[in-house]
Amino acid sequence: MATPSRGSWTGHLGFVLAAAGSAIGLGNIWMFPYRTGTNGGAAFVLVYVIAVVAIGIPLLLSEVLIGRSTKRNPVGAFRVLRGGSMWPALGWLGVAAGFIILSYYGVVAGWALEYTWRCALGGLGAIDSGGVAEFFGRLTSEGPRQVVNQAAVMAATAAIVARGVEAGIERASKILLPLLFALLLVLLGYSLTSEGVGQGLEFLFKPRFDELTWRGVLAALGQAFFSLSLGMGAMITYGSYLGDEERLVWPAFLIAGMDTLLAILAGLVIFPLVFSYGLEPGAGPGLIFITLPKAFLQMPGSGFLATMFFALVLFAAVTSAISLLEVVVSFVVDELGVGRAVASWGAGLLIFGLGVPSAVVPGFLDRVDGLASNWMLPVGGLLIAIFAGWTLKRDEARAAFRGDSGSDAGFDAWRLCVRYLAPTAVAFILLQNIGLID
Ligand code: PHE
Repeated sequence: MATPSRGSWTGHLGFVLAAAGSAIGLGNIWMFPYRTGTNGGAAFVLVYVIAVVAIGIPLLLSEVLIGRSTKRNPVGAFRVLRGGSMWPALGWLGVAAGFIILSYYGVVAGWALEYTWRCALGGLGAIDSGGVAEFFGRLTSEGPRQVVNQAAVMAATAAIVARGVEAGIERASKILLPLLFALLLVLLGYSLTSEGVGQGLEFLFKPRFDELTWRGVLAALGQAFFSLSLGMGAMITYGSYLGDEERLVWPAFLIAGMDTLLAILAGLVIFPLVFSYGLEPGAGPGLIFITLPKAFLQMPGSGFLATMFFALVLFAAVTSAISLLEVVVSFVVDELGVGRAVASWGAGLLIFGLGVPSAVVPGFLDRVDGLASNWMLPVGGLLIAIFAGWTLKRDEARAAFRGDSGSDAGFDAWRLCVRYLAPTAVAFILLQNIGLID
């Protein structure tokens, strides 16, 4: 049963904004554009959107459903539904993924923090003396500087989570998310009036299927997982703060819609500018940290533009980091009976420590990211789909949707996706990871 001290959202809007805040993050503004850039543009975008609708939304619904009906953290949720089986181990996998992802997520968010304050204080010149690429290279190879930034991001995250579901997470999301959209709209004004707008639009919306590889298709799928915060129980946790009378279906569509919209808008800000100044769209992970600042540099008010852009990245990252920490904190609070403040600061500190190697050991961050994004999230997603589609009986699942049940056709479509489509698609990602398909 719900323990009153667990906290809950004030209503639909609180939940939708917090969950959208979790979903919208570095995945949208950093990875989505660079992966679109390296995977041929519009064809990647198209596959991504299909993956979100056919696999992402059904899985998101499954997670929120599991959370809402148990009012527990991921480990406790599976224990309530299928205690005495192996399923609670799936919750453990989620808590471990929260630890691991946040450990390096804090480092990358720290890069955005460094860019933001430097551009705010000294304009882009602060970054460009000696070249943007060199600045980024130095930043990412200087351990101590990254650790300080990472510590600042983690402290902000822990401070928000420590304040609780409503006064911390929901409040922060209600402030940061609108701010983020506002910043994006201003930047969009610049990019859509730039010279490269035609090329940018074509790149994002006119598919050239010959450039889409199998690898690209699976990358789009993995991207959808990461971007919607799926496969590790973040949405189980956020769902657990929903009252039984709250709806699930339309909020899930809204959350996924906002997340996808934001990723595409980020692409719409970045690519027209990249083309306007003859830069390389397929630059990879340095796209927003090196290529984009080079474009800003050639525009009037470059320092202001860059500050806005990196503040946007930072806000998006913080609302996602909150949800990663919350998975761990909800577990500690529910299962170990530790107070929220102690749990938040304690877990935050541990995760910070775990993240230090990502900041100081070259190549470490990529490896941990590979472990989490290529293995933990897909395996978690596969098992959550199997749980929702096969282990939960039809009537059990139907009843869990409660007031939301709507049409049978909708319910059957959801069930079909989680029983067959999602497991098959994720199995392909895993097959590719072990090298059985190219
Ligand atoms: N969805 C977040 C992003 O796009 C990352 C994330 C993954 C957050 C998993 C929580 C859980 O950046």
